[in-house]
Amino acid sequence: MVVCHCNMVNDRTIYKLANTAGRALTVSDVTNHCGAGGGCGGCVDTIVEVLQARPNDGARQH
Ligand code: FES
Repeated sequence: MVVCHCNMVNDRTIYKLANTAGRALTVSDVTNHCGAGGGCGGCVDTIVEVLQARPNDGARQH
């Protein structure tokens, strides 16, 4: 699913970032890493949802 249409970032990219970060990410962290949320800002709520939905199991694997 494309989360950020301005920068063509999908949810898998954000999940991957979150799973490799080793800490909870903010929207600003995501923007700094992949640009999502740095354009029109219309996807910020969706980025928050993706960060909150991230399965904890993914974090433990890294
Ligand atoms: S859709 Fe993500 S910044 Fe515009």
